Amino acid sequence: LLHTKFIYLSLIFHLLKQHAVCIPLHTLQRKQALHLKLHRRNSTREQLRMHHLFKQLPRAIIIGVRKGGTRALLEMLSLHPAVVKASQEVHFFDNDENYDRGVDWYLKKMPFSFPHQITIEKSPAYFITEEVPERIFKMNSSIKLLLIVREPTIRAVSDYTQVLEGKERKNKTYNKFEELVIDTKTCEVNTKYKAVRTSIYTKYLEHWLKFFPIEQFHIVDGDHLITDPLPELKLVEQFLNLPSRISQYNLYFNATRGFFCLRFNFMFSKCLAGSKGRIHPDVNLSIKEKLQRFFHPFNQKFYQITGRTFNWP
Ligand SMILES: *[C@@H]1O[C@H](CO)[C@@H](O)[C@H](O)[C@H]1NC(C)=O
Ligand SMILES: *[C@@H]1O[C@H](CO)[C@@H](O)[C@H](O)[C@H]1NC(C)=O
Ligand SMILES: *[C@@H]1O[C@H](CO)[C@@H](O)[C@H](O)[C@H]1NC(C)=O
Ligand SMILES: *[C@@H]1O[C@H](CO)[C@@H](O)[C@H](O)[C@H]1NC(C)=O
Ligand SMILES: *[C@@H]1O[C@H](CO)[C@@H](O)[C@H](O)[C@H]1NC(C)=O
Repeated sequence: LLHTKFIYLSLIFHLLKQHAVCIPLHTLQRKQALHLKLHRRNSTREQLRMHHLFKQLPRAIIIGVRKGGTRALLEMLSLHPAVVKASQEVHFFDNDENYDRGVDWYLKKMPFSFPHQITIEKSPAYFITEEVPERIFKMNSSIKLLLIVREPTIRAVSDYTQVLEGKERKNKTYNKFEELVIDTKTCEVNTKYKAVRTSIYTKYLEHWLKFFPIEQFHIVDGDHLITDPLPELKLVEQFLNLPSRISQYNLYFNATRGFFCLRFNFMFSKCLAGSKGRIHPDVNLSIKEKLQRFFHPFNQKFYQITGRTFNWP
């Protein structure tokens, strides 16, 4: 009896907690249940209209950066009852073939949403692809742009690690990180290597600024998002003009994974894919420091432009 009572009480406690921390349970459940139902069932346009569901173009796009934590950011933002996410990377603006299919094709790729909700998609290649800013500008010149970055050397190693894993899966050999980042002829940092170039954030951002004012960008600290997500998410909520709804209740640390999991409500939670926390190879210290010295001036410029300073070396 005592046991049953305990379960009962903890259930009520959870329900109360939901409300106390301002997550409207019904909204969340409705959001999930309805979406699933309508996707599984073969819903007609009429049924969708009845539920006031429709597809909307994104009001905000996570434009990058690759290995910055774009997936984690998108998943965490989708904890917000007013945010719906495009599950797949859409690659509309960076892929000519997709782009030629037109904005209607892009819209079709978006999830169903209620009128008060905003849609967000992420495609990390957008940040470094030259044609993208102008194309996004043509669609919506006042769109909000989210850029999540990590310390540039760590990001480069992470980028390398992902490519390495792909090669290993195909039983292909791959050069060591140290061999790729240093130009053997000059003994300087090899700026032809993509993992190095992508970490020169200011170079790409300056190109974006030819189309959008800096006010339309929000920079997310990807290193901070991993260790302490909530403060970063609150800043994004503000930037998107959304009421603050994501709370500590929605994010719980899983010690086994060493990473945060997402709790949508007392029934439904999920952890981000395990492959996201890859172990990086040990990098020769002197080469790591060389890279840090290389990125240093670009980082200073990045802080200056964005008004957001990081304690990168
Ligand atoms: C789903 O849609 C297809 C194509 O429009 C149709 O042929 C099929 O009968 C529908 N199935 C159900 C269960 O409504
Ligand atoms: C463009 O994006 C802004 C910012 O999210 C939004 O307020 C506006 O409604 C969008 N315009 C169109 C035409 O979608
Ligand atoms: C890679 O090599 C391993 C061991 O030699 C083998 O078992 C595996 O099938 C290979 N994988 C591919 C994709 O060739
Ligand atoms: C924590 O992570 C482990 C390993 O991925 C998983 O088996 C377990 O279910 C997770 N626990 C919770 C409470 O999410
Ligand atoms: C690290 O790289 C430097 C410069 O290439 C080299 O002199 C040094 O021996 C390397 N250290 C280790 C531990 O491999």
